[in-house]
Amino acid sequence: MTEANHKRGLWATRMGFIMAASGSAVGLGNVWKFPYIVGENGGGAFVLVYLVCIAVVGLPIMLAEFTIGRKTSLNPVGAFHQLKPNTPWVGIGFMGVLAGFLILSFYGVVGGWTLAYVVKSLTHTIDHFANPGEAGKFFGGFIGNTGEVVFYHAVFMGLTIAIVIKGVHGGIEKACDILMPTLVVMLVILMVRALTLDGAMEGLRFYLYPDFSKLSGQSVLLAMGQAFFSLSLGMGAMITYGSYLPAKENLTSATLYVVLFDTLIALLMGLVIFPAVFAMGLEPTEGPGLVFSVLPAVFTGMPMGWIASIIFFILLAIAALTSAISLLEVVVAYFIDQKGWGRQKAVLVMGLVIFALGIPSGLSFGLLADARLFGMTFFDHVDNISSNYLLPIGGMLTAIFVAWVWGTREAHREIERHETTFHWAAYWEFVIRYIAPVAVAIVFLAKIFPDS
Ligand code: PHE
Repeated sequence: MTEANHKRGLWATRMGFIMAASGSAVGLGNVWKFPYIVGENGGGAFVLVYLVCIAVVGLPIMLAEFTIGRKTSLNPVGAFHQLKPNTPWVGIGFMGVLAGFLILSFYGVVGGWTLAYVVKSLTHTIDHFANPGEAGKFFGGFIGNTGEVVFYHAVFMGLTIAIVIKGVHGGIEKACDILMPTLVVMLVILMVRALTLDGAMEGLRFYLYPDFSKLSGQSVLLAMGQAFFSLSLGMGAMITYGSYLPAKENLTSATLYVVLFDTLIALLMGLVIFPAVFAMGLEPTEGPGLVFSVLPAVFTGMPMGWIASIIFFILLAIAALTSAISLLEVVVAYFIDQKGWGRQKAVLVMGLVIFALGIPSGLSFGLLADARLFGMTFFDHVDNISSNYLLPIGGMLTAIFVAWVWGTREAHREIERHETTFHWAAYWEFVIRYIAPVAVAIVFLAKIFPDS
């Protein structure tokens, strides 16, 4: 076993593991999606609901995933197979690997957009918009441009491949050790800039004052889905990262750190975006275009906006990249552990296949914009299948598996393997058994039957 572990690789330090897992969690979900859904769902009230979802669903499932990973030292398929051989539960692992494959294919496209916006910031291409309408039109033109989109998508996937091919310690851990602190420093700089703008207070009031009248049933569901996606749960990313943990690691405190870090970054992102948007007299209810259409207009009007724009899009690219490497690692770990492939082959072959599958997603806003099935583009379908189906089902089944099939007693034993005391064991056992699976099931059903 030890020898096999060495072949798979291990995290060198506890900090490196926490940085890598936080890097997986902190992504487009925090920087791009969180602010705009808060903007559309009544600010502070939505934030409160989100925090409850993190506590009752996110936290317990993350610990469950880390525990499965560390116990088995295997990829999601191998892990479920080792715990309950030849049972349908192994299907959770397959769903996870498939989800990693699908999510990365469109995540890489959006990752490419972020790189393009770094370049466009540097070259003063996006700092002359009089209003979000103009910035939005520019963005629409850019994502419809086949050559540019595919080029940046390829560069982003190339970076992802270059990091993952170097392995768990030499690639992923080293990259995250540098990139995550950089991200935090950039976030602090942007926060100071945004909060010292004239009129920033108005944004703060919107963000922090809970207006419960704007909260609907639908926003509760959104909050839960967001908690899931943002923490990288339901597809075995955290099982895979947990599988590279040495036995002495304290899983419960690592879980708390990663959850806190991810949540803090999302919350602080709000402290950048809302003060800046309000100070420039704009509206935060723009939806998905908030980051790419409203922010360039915000930066145009802001003192030192050019620098802020460069820093912001680099931050966004870093966030996307450290998540993308965790998605690729899930797929790669499966081919290494289960199929006996070497790392190089697994990374190169799978990286290229995922890139190729991403191309129709990349073209979904241009050449293929009219190629629709049930009214949705290729991009929409891949996003919908993975985010709205595979992740919640995977998360719910993982909770049920740990709570009722493998059993909380076994899990508990693994968590306390190295004389760590599990202080919140009673809370964890209660939520993983009764609350998390039911809550996810409700969200899932409400998503498939939105009108009933
Ligand atoms: N957590 C990432 C984000 O917030 C997305 C992600 C989901 C990454 C699932 C890995 C696995 O953007």
